[in-house]
Amino acid sequence: MKRVLPLLGLVFFTPPSHAGDLDFAMGKALFDRPWTSAPSSTQATDGLGPLFNARSCLACHPKNGRGDITLNDKGEIGGLGYVIRIGNEKGGPDPVYGRQLQTNAVHGLSGEAHVLYKDGYYDIRDLAYGPMAKDTNYAGRLSQPLHGLGLLEKVSDDAILANADPDDADNNGISGRPNIIDGKIGRFAWKATAPSLYIQAGNAFSNDIGMSTPVNPNHYGDCTEAQKDCLAQPHGGTEMFEGLEIDSKMLGHITTYLQRLKAPAPTALSDDGLFAKTGCADCHIPSLPTKDGQSVTAYSDLLLHDMGDGLADGIREGDATGREWRTQPLWGTRDTKLFLHDGRAKSVEEAINWHGGEAQNAKDRFNSLSETDKFNLLRFVNSL
Ligand code: HEC
Ligand code: HEC
Repeated sequence: MKRVLPLLGLVFFTPPSHAGDLDFAMGKALFDRPWTSAPSSTQATDGLGPLFNARSCLACHPKNGRGDITLNDKGEIGGLGYVIRIGNEKGGPDPVYGRQLQTNAVHGLSGEAHVLYKDGYYDIRDLAYGPMAKDTNYAGRLSQPLHGLGLLEKVSDDAILANADPDDADNNGISGRPNIIDGKIGRFAWKATAPSLYIQAGNAFSNDIGMSTPVNPNHYGDCTEAQKDCLAQPHGGTEMFEGLEIDSKMLGHITTYLQRLKAPAPTALSDDGLFAKTGCADCHIPSLPTKDGQSVTAYSDLLLHDMGDGLADGIREGDATGREWRTQPLWGTRDTKLFLHDGRAKSVEEAINWHGGEAQNAKDRFNSLSETDKFNLLRFVNSL
């Protein structure tokens, strides 16, 4: 589109497309693109897998939203938007299966397992490389919605740290702390394991799609030394892309795409102070300031909290222990159908009733609200 800018009496023509718009469009194309496996001959350009969960970002983030638990006709998780994270209480991966179960693989190799799912419970079958280690734990992770993340990236470290209270100095039972990853504050993913969208996109390429990026330059994604048949597959690393399958420019385009996805419009409803009175706002902080003076109404402190036994998964990721989770932002709740990290709750009320640990008091206060207040609070949260 051509725009005419009258300026100082002169007429300037802007280029047909703003450079940032072009980045966004290229980022979207890469986000939507289904990757294919590297050919065994030279001139490889793709490089899916060898082990993977899905072929594209889009497959797991339909309409930039949260995943769903879709089952195939055998009752197995179809792999779209729902993955099984594995690891132990000390932060180590499984020595054979790595950090995630990849249920798909390139031609000639089989996925690591089949995951059956029924009524919130899953059952891992047909492990392709023998049993997992005794201390390996596993837990579901539903993909998260992607709107507004560019704003969360702009919140200053100071604004996040201002709400941290690791030793619970104010004695309110709530002790949020940041997940520090390579010296930076983690902000993204259920345990705040990625400090930036660039790193999160790189992690996704590695764990979910099996492709190398500057963030994780291993062409074999989550394949371990024990998975020799996986390491024997061709890869798609090429000089053309800095020796990688996805180079820094491509990852940059995807980052721009993510940064520009708009936040949900603010709710028109008022909570009549109930949200704070019940203690929800102690973690789901309604608004955080960005470095450039905007406010981000995400309803999160981006900090980790011990959420009790009910939600614990026994998997340490960075500083986040097996009982800790990042306060999930509540903006966009109006579009949410499955709640919590593994999608086990089907409503806001159910999600609240899984809260324990540091959130036990808030849950108890919620359950002792009058029916009218409860109704109003739920209506408010459902409108976010
Ligand atoms: C196999 C499914 C799958 C694929 C493919 C996938 N994701 Fe995700 N995505 C997830 C899951 C699951 C999470 C939560 C991860 C966690 O907590 O560790 C997630 C989280 C994210 C987040 C963090 C959102 C937040 O609120 O913190 C971003 C950003 C993201 N993905 C971007 C991408 C991009 C970009 C791609 C493609 C390069 C991609 N994803 C591919 C499943 C997927
Ligand atoms: C101690 C901190 C804390 C308090 C207090 C708290 N929450 Fe949460 N909330 C969290 C964390 C952390 C998660 C993510 C847990 C998970 O996924 O396992 C979460 C998740 C949720 C979810 C699911 C979000 C989603 O998109 O899946 C909802 C809904 C929610 N909280 C609502 C509330 C309400 C309403 C209150 C007040 C009654 C409240 N919370 C109090 C920390 C807290």
